[in-house]
Amino acid sequence: MLETTAPPIAAPDLTDLAMRQVDNVIRERLSSRVALIDQISRYIIGAGGKRIRPRLVLLFSEALGFDGPERLELAAVVEFIHTATLLHDDVVDESALRRGRPTANAMFGNAASVLVGDFLYSRAFQMMVSVNHMRVLDVLADATNVIAEGEVLQLMNMHDPDLSVADYLKVIRFKTAKLFEASARLGAVLAGASAEVEEACAGYGRALGTAFQIVDDLLDYEGDSLELGKNVGDDLREGKPTLPLLLAMERASTSERALMRRAIEQGEEKGLSDILAIVRRTGALDATREAARLETDHACGLLQALPDSRARRALLELSVRAVHRSS
Ligand code: IPE
Ligand code: IPE
Ligand code: MG
Ligand code: MG
Repeated sequence: MLETTAPPIAAPDLTDLAMRQVDNVIRERLSSRVALIDQISRYIIGAGGKRIRPRLVLLFSEALGFDGPERLELAAVVEFIHTATLLHDDVVDESALRRGRPTANAMFGNAASVLVGDFLYSRAFQMMVSVNHMRVLDVLADATNVIAEGEVLQLMNMHDPDLSVADYLKVIRFKTAKLFEASARLGAVLAGASAEVEEACAGYGRALGTAFQIVDDLLDYEGDSLELGKNVGDDLREGKPTLPLLLAMERASTSERALMRRAIEQGEEKGLSDILAIVRRTGALDATREAARLETDHACGLLQALPDSRARRALLELSVRAVHRSS
């Protein structure tokens, strides 16, 4: 089994056996004739991660009564797509730490990271074709396309201190929530659920993914690098305006706001502790967590479309943990 550095986010007993099977699929499908691809992909995937997206595929499949092997293949597919985006994202963000290890770009260089990310994307497409289900292809092709749009949108928003909360939310719905949405929807598609139930599942994924990214942005201010396995403060350092900063700017004094605007425009390391103090004092961190909680409240409400089951209870628990996590 692949080693994991972070504890599973869902109830441990829940889908453990199936998750082990997913890990086996992941390991088998990683193989390549090119040694460097094997090395880099196993480096990042072997470092663990929370595996939350594959869990969504499994839990929605289970909640709707589908237990065919396609769910394992698609769970591995969404983890591959996620990992490809991480390889690319760490190059774009110039990040140094991921899953408690030096990033692939730090270890092997930007070019190799981008190319292996492309390998994982295309391997994911080979795998999804093997499932031989047109709706599955539709969902995943759409999701990968929207994720790419989100990453480019975010690039365009860098260093913009006038970014609105609505525009921030649009980016995170694209870059993060879309894959959560697709993962949840795939469970419903495999199970042959009605359009109404499928939309409820997709809506849960979208809201959970939005909350998850809001908390990721929160942890970039208040988290612990060791626990997170990635460096905190990266967002401010690179001039990325995220919710904690946007909410703090709304609440800060004129001079404090000027300091924060400058940090976003220039991307600043040295102002970090001053800005963190302002973000704390204005209550922006609590307000950020509250924004995430509202999203997960919405997500939980949508689960009423599913019959009561162990899987549904695990999905409820997952959304609570997404907001209160520290890694
Ligand atoms: C990190 O995702 C990137 C975001 C969308 C916030 P995860 O926090 O799920 O990363 P791993 O897979 O657990 O490392
Ligand atoms: C998530 O955004 C990026 C993806 C969806 C790939 P971040 O840039 O905040 O993710 P981390 O913090 O590097 O994991
Ligand atoms: Mg990043
Ligand atoms: Mg982040």
